Amino acid sequence: MKQIRWFLSVALITATFFTSCNNDEEPDPNQIAFENASIANGGIMYDKFWSTESNFDQNNTNLATLNDKADFFRCKQCHGWDGLGSNGAYINRAPKTTRPNVSALNLYNLAQNKTSKELFDAMKATNGRRDISYDLSTYDPATNYTEGDKMPNFGQLLTDAQIWDIVKFMKEGMFDVTELYDATYTGEYPTGSFALSNIGKNGNEANGNNLYTEKCAACHGANGSDIDLGGSTAAGKFTRSKAYEVQHKVKYGQLGSSMKGEFNMTLSEIKDLYKALANETNFPN
Ligand code: HEC
Ligand code: HEC
Repeated sequence: MKQIRWFLSVALITATFFTSCNNDEEPDPNQIAFENASIANGGIMYDKFWSTESNFDQNNTNLATLNDKADFFRCKQCHGWDGLGSNGAYINRAPKTTRPNVSALNLYNLAQNKTSKELFDAMKATNGRRDISYDLSTYDPATNYTEGDKMPNFGQLLTDAQIWDIVKFMKEGMFDVTELYDATYTGEYPTGSFALSNIGKNGNEANGNNLYTEKCAACHGANGSDIDLGGSTAAGKFTRSKAYEVQHKVKYGQLGSSMKGEFNMTLSEIKDLYKALANETNFPN
């Protein structure tokens, strides 16, 4: 009799324990990690995850390899600033011995359609990934590209917290570029071409001019020409020709320069800014 009572109370305690564990209100650690992640840091890492601007450990033993073979590790090289890979503005970015083929994946769409946990798991996957020990000095786009073109094994390079930052960027910080401009793509990677038009679409030009004055003019000058952005290119011309890239630079910064990210910029504000910078009279070539 005593034994039965003992058995019953153990059973009761066990049942209570399991019921409370199954309680729907228990916080999901993955959800917490996602909520605590930083879109800003994720966006910086999408450009160059080992930059000083991200919190990457500058004593990491892989730093020399990363700097030496940067384009084999930067998300933007394989997936594009627009997240459209070889079907976007990188349709003509052919591989060289120093950079891999651009991926055919539409990363922007993939990130919208997967859950944050699925993206996290994809970033940690090891199957079909390139090991950090792989010797990239033998990469040749004509004869030896299979391994070099593979996505790196990021579980070897990034902490879980860093991966969550990138996941949050992919889900909430990446822009749908079709909202920012019209594009026509012709031909096929790597010999295709593209043309951008209607920069800023239905954005508000007056608001864009205000944003420019407030956030850009101090460095780039009232008409965008105070800083040479390569080959006497002013901010207006640069934006008109590289509208697929400027949204990322504005929001996450031009790494290695004094231009910090405007991390709170919304899609609608970028659109307004684009609309203003599309005006060749106000922002001449
Ligand atoms: C050397 C090129 C390369 C680099 C660098 C690279 N990727 Fe990829 N990535 C690919 C290729 C190719 C695929 C498609 C095939 C696959 O899933 O491996 C892919 C697939 C993906 C997927 C989908 C995976 C899945 O299983 O569904 C995600 C998400 C992704 N990449 C994000 C990133 C992020 C974020 C970075 C930077 C931290 C990055 N990639 C860097 C080449 C690259
Ligand atoms: C604190 C000064 C500063 C501010 C503010 C600033 N920039 Fe910049 N910007 C720079 C510098 C410096 C560079 C880098 C030039 C270089 O790399 O040679 C740069 C680069 C750029 C580039 C070229 C990016 C590339 O990929 O080469 C664009 C486009 C640009 N800025 C636009 C803007 C816009 C639009 C704003 C306002 C939202 C802005 N900048 C705010 C200083 C600034």
